[in-house]
Amino acid sequence: MKEIFRIAIDGPSGAGKSTIAKAVAAGLGIDYIDTGAMYRAVGYKVKDAGIDADDEGALKALLDETEIDFKQGDIILDGVVVNDKIRTPEISKMASIVSTKEPVRAKLVDIQRAMGSRKSVIMDGRDIGTNVFKDAEYKIFLTASVKERADRRYKELIEKGQDVEYEQIYSDIEARDYSDCTRKLNPLRKADDAVELDTTGLNIDQVVEKVMEIVR
Ligand code: DC
Repeated sequence: MKEIFRIAIDGPSGAGKSTIAKAVAAGLGIDYIDTGAMYRAVGYKVKDAGIDADDEGALKALLDETEIDFKQGDIILDGVVVNDKIRTPEISKMASIVSTKEPVRAKLVDIQRAMGSRKSVIMDGRDIGTNVFKDAEYKIFLTASVKERADRRYKELIEKGQDVEYEQIYSDIEARDYSDCTRKLNPLRKADDAVELDTTGLNIDQVVEKVMEIVR
């Protein structure tokens, strides 16, 4: 194995990317970077500031004043840990909207490339293998059926005590898939050289083992 290497994990919402990436990062002793959390943090800030995401001037001004980082697994927005605040259905929608905006993608991709240039990382998102690290040493495209992904997301949010409707979660996932796959800028797609892993019916350990096999 090379001294510095990047593992790119892409796939649709709820396919298990972050759970798997976290476990693989711990197993290999490398950093995990959740790029979806970065889009969520921007979505949260846009919402909190009450600006219109279509107002490019306001969006750029807000981005100029925005700092996003990870510390010990926490996502830090302008010096404040926002882990839980960004995991609501409302912010999921906002993250999807801001992720279609060029100034947002440009800024976040720059930060992501800087993070992955200094040390080995496992990074998950939608465009890691196709755009952020086209030359990543390992690329995995993680999928699962819409039903399985809706089941998992529902369970996760209920366990966190959030008041959510299953049908809503299901249709939100479909809407986000549509938006992620059809947007103009860096849409979600499998890189030609990525290994596709369908996790429907597999448990976490089985998927982690499959990823470890690919990396070994
Ligand atoms: O993986 P997630 O659900 O936390 O991602 C939140 C949103 O950000 C989702 O709509 C897709 C978008 N995203 C993106 O466009 N590019 C990435 N690299 C990661 C996420």
